[in-house]
Amino acid sequence: MILKGRIKFITDMIPECTILSDIGTDHAYIPIYMVMNKRCQRAIGSDIGKGPVAVANRNVQQHGVEDRVETRLGSGLKPISEDEMDACVIAGMGGMLIREILNDDLEKAKKAKALIIQPMNYIELVREWLYGNGFYIYDEGLIKEGFRIYNVIAARWTGEVLSKDAVYYYIGEKLIQKKDPLLKKYMANRIDIIDRIIKEMSAMKDKDSMLLRDYINIRNELYALLQRID
Ligand SMILES: C[S@@+](CC[C@H](N)C(=O)[O-])C[C@H]1O[C@@H](n2cnc3c(N)ncnc32)[C@H](O)[C@@H]1O
Repeated sequence: MILKGRIKFITDMIPECTILSDIGTDHAYIPIYMVMNKRCQRAIGSDIGKGPVAVANRNVQQHGVEDRVETRLGSGLKPISEDEMDACVIAGMGGMLIREILNDDLEKAKKAKALIIQPMNYIELVREWLYGNGFYIYDEGLIKEGFRIYNVIAARWTGEVLSKDAVYYYIGEKLIQKKDPLLKKYMANRIDIIDRIIKEMSAMKDKDSMLLRDYINIRNELYALLQRID
């Protein structure tokens, strides 16, 4: 199996592991790739949808890895037991849903040696949740696929609860420390999106002035941070 772009980038961030759990697996490409490349001994692909689980089963059979990849039907971390939380991937879902999945099964999430998370939006809510619940973000990366830049986070629980400046919920500190080559472009895109939100909110009659002010502040902080990055 050959993977490219976002999915390949996610697998590159998964450490070698005994067991991998991929939540919202859909096609099960991540578990299949990981066992085929001997990066984990066995893997579970779980999904809330019967359709995705059927597709996952078909792909698992086609690649002849039924002995090492198991599929399960269910929501979030519910189908996974604590001792199956060695490495855990939650990718391709909205940030609010990812936060809900982690929050609903916090004790399980704490067990993961590596939590690899790739939200499609609201990544700031995910980072704030991770820091606020004692998770350490030990790595981050950006990958461009098509017109879009995706942000992948790697975290594990340490118990140290942190509160950061809001700007570091929007832009991961690891991306800045690593001087990620896509960082400036990614930040410029984020500023553009916030500019659009500010414009739309400003035109509203019954606008939430506090929320609007928060967006303006974060936009200005992002812009100032972008200027400081070399
Ligand atoms: C866009 S796909 C992402 C597939 C894959 N993880 C990826 O990154 O390419 C999102 C998948 O998450 C599943 N999903 C949505 N909510 C879920 C939940 N609460 N628990 C488990 N899976 C969920 C959907 O059924 C869908 O298959």
